[in-house]
Amino acid sequence: MQPDIDRLREEALAAVAAAVDIGQLDHLQVAYLGRKGRLTVILRGLADVPAAERPSLGAMANQARAEIESALVRRRQELAMESDRRRQAAEGIDVTLPGVPRRVGRRHVLSAVRREIEEFFLHLGFSIAEGPEVELDHYNFELLNIPRGHPARETQDTFYLTDELLLRTHTSPTQIRVMQMLAPRLPVRVISPGRVYRRDSVDASHLPFFHQVEVLAVDRGITFADLKGTLEHFARSFFSQGTRVRLRPSYFPFTEPSAEVDVSCMCEGRGCSACGGKGWIELLGAGMVHPRVLEAGGYDPEEVSGYALGLGVERAAMLYHGINDIRLFGQNDVRFLDQFGEGGC
Ligand code: DAH
Repeated sequence: MQPDIDRLREEALAAVAAAVDIGQLDHLQVAYLGRKGRLTVILRGLADVPAAERPSLGAMANQARAEIESALVRRRQELAMESDRRRQAAEGIDVTLPGVPRRVGRRHVLSAVRREIEEFFLHLGFSIAEGPEVELDHYNFELLNIPRGHPARETQDTFYLTDELLLRTHTSPTQIRVMQMLAPRLPVRVISPGRVYRRDSVDASHLPFFHQVEVLAVDRGITFADLKGTLEHFARSFFSQGTRVRLRPSYFPFTEPSAEVDVSCMCEGRGCSACGGKGWIELLGAGMVHPRVLEAGGYDPEEVSGYALGLGVERAAMLYHGINDIRLFGQNDVRFLDQFGEGGC
């Protein structure tokens, strides 16, 4: 019986080595090792062998089985690799070529600038509160001391949804919402970023919607000096250490006194297209919160005071990056967007 086992093993190993596809290997596996396979039959026949020979013959048969099994596994791997190689050759893939780099997204320049503004005020201890874009006339105008018929309504051409409901024209209504939520607690230190809408026709400096960040601080004893200090600190941190701030008297119904805030231009007045040779660029509107607005928010103007400011995000981004057309922000042209690294500023 021993020569039978040896012969069978040699035959099986030769057949496995000669197999040219996986189908043949499957077939050989069944033919030799399957339930009715030739080696299996021999193993069963061991029952008829004299007891003295059985252990050594059994060991040989098991050894043969193990060898055939591992030969099958090895040949399977070889055939798989060969077919990979053949397929790659056929498809012309050169695995040594460098890969195709994937383009990674980045934050939109407007988001980056907005975050930069937010970070500044968060460091000063302000929190963020957002208000609704669909707003009540009452909050957008009335409570901000802009009653019906007030000329200031005409400077902010409004998208009305109904008589009472509109798309907010500025983030200032959030001042009222925040105060009503917090009163009588002090201090109030909140910024409110968001989108605002105006019925403007589109040109290089107007879009029907843009973004603002509203800033509001209310406490006992807040003065105009606090506002000015905050503005100077902000301008230096956002633009550059050398930036100066100039306040021009102005008018907003919801602040008294009110100011238009300019920052010094990088040309230092030598003349450039950004400032038109004036040396100053208008950045934002600000002022001391009007007593009526404090009252509408639930605070007593005899006891507390506050400052507020409203900053245009597009405007800040245009000044910072020297962008001359506001429409570029919305066109999603990667040639434009790619110029601004992560972090934006
Ligand atoms: N809400 C004003 C606007 O859209 C900007 C503004 C001016 C906000 C003065 C303020 C402020 O908080 O004090 O155009």
